[in-house]
Amino acid sequence: MDDKIRILLSEEEVAARVKEIAEEISRDYDGKPLHLICILKGGVFFTCELAKRINLPLTLDFMSVSSYGAGTVSSGIVKITKDLDEPIEGKDVLIVEDIIDSGNTLAYLIEVLKQRNPNSIELCTLLDKPERRVKDQVKVKYTCFTVPDQFIVGYGLDYDQIYRNLPYIGVIEQQ
Ligand code: IMP
Ligand code: MG
Repeated sequence: MDDKIRILLSEEEVAARVKEIAEEISRDYDGKPLHLICILKGGVFFTCELAKRINLPLTLDFMSVSSYGAGTVSSGIVKITKDLDEPIEGKDVLIVEDIIDSGNTLAYLIEVLKQRNPNSIELCTLLDKPERRVKDQVKVKYTCFTVPDQFIVGYGLDYDQIYRNLPYIGVIEQQ
């Protein structure tokens, strides 16, 4: 726990950007009901802040996935460890993620969810690391920040389950 963390995006910067994205979402859906799907656990901090600032009739559901793979890049073999509570058929769905890295997790998830016949399905992420993308079919509609290929913690993102509760976004400095 004595890692040194360098702040990449302050609490204020994140709050301002989340508000902007929420306003964009509210405009785009133009008063229509929106169903947010939060990807646990990393997406939970972002989802709460975002949801509070979206001005639409909003419903929420949660899903948890784990991806298996050696090393630091996920394999694309994804297991749903907690499924949604409610059907998404006919709904306008927005998936909320903490970070899109290789894109493997979301490429799989979007395929699974499309088979449940939502009216629409889009993606909103706090962070995007485009340099690491291997699945280019993952199209992200809303991105708060694009980040370099560094290991990020805070605002939901963990290192070995720690640091999720940091109010800012940071990187662990090499000691
Ligand atoms: P993907 O399938 O490679 O896109 O994996 C995405 C998942 O890996 C995210 O939802 C995070 O849980 C995790 N992840 C990817 N990059 C980072 C990072 O820099 N810090 C913390 N978690 C990360
Ligand atoms: Mg995650």
